[in-house]
Amino acid sequence: MKFIVCENYEDMSREGAKIIAELLKKKPECVLGLATGSTPVGMYKELARMNKAGKITFKNVTSYNLDEYYPLAPDHDQSYRYFMNHNLFDHVDIDKAKTHVPDGLAKDPAAMGKAYDAAIDAAGGIDLQVLGLGPNGHIAFNEPEENLYVGTHLTGLTESTIRANSRFFEKIEDVPTQAVTMGMGSIMKARSILVLASGKAKHYVIEKMLDDRITTQVPGTLLKLHPNVVLICDREAYEG
Ligand code: GLP
Repeated sequence: MKFIVCENYEDMSREGAKIIAELLKKKPECVLGLATGSTPVGMYKELARMNKAGKITFKNVTSYNLDEYYPLAPDHDQSYRYFMNHNLFDHVDIDKAKTHVPDGLAKDPAAMGKAYDAAIDAAGGIDLQVLGLGPNGHIAFNEPEENLYVGTHLTGLTESTIRANSRFFEKIEDVPTQAVTMGMGSIMKARSILVLASGKAKHYVIEKMLDDRITTQVPGTLLKLHPNVVLICDREAYEG
């Protein structure tokens, strides 16, 4: 794993954007795996700026997002589809028909999950997967547990994740208690992975990411088994 510490959130965002921009130049028709959460917002802004300046294009990009709350409609203002439109897709030249988010209203989430993983495979697999880290070490919505799922699946959210994510909702009761999420296998199949972490709240997980052990109790640590991961954090996340 390549590890980079940046001075602050803005530098981390720029470093992340640089890596994606390089891929877009090398492989304009690449498949991106995208993440939500507050962490990648700055990087998405920087990518939109570079796109407007004519430095990069998303015209031929296909994207697959990691997860979606369940049950939640795509036009709900807290849905991850809504988030992606507002924070990236509406500001770049991507063809929205080529952007995918797991269906938060799927009647049969297990079948939807299988189809989602199959669609990623059929698209040629993910070239670069963007990831944030939950304060408890979750990636996408793979929460700390003894057993983790391989494929895209329906899952319950832990109390701590519901609490952490309640800042985006009016009240904690409004936070969905379930989500559909890519599994550990769906994520690990990506050819390269870019992990971002910012702020003191991520210090615990950054420490776990940097030691020589893996545990399903901190799902992000399993990324140490992947041959092509870049982890970028800011000084606050590094020093705590
Ligand atoms: C959510 C998402 C994750 C994200 C995490 C961290 O639970 N499912 O994909 O990485 O939160 O969020 P933030 O970046 O806001 O700290």
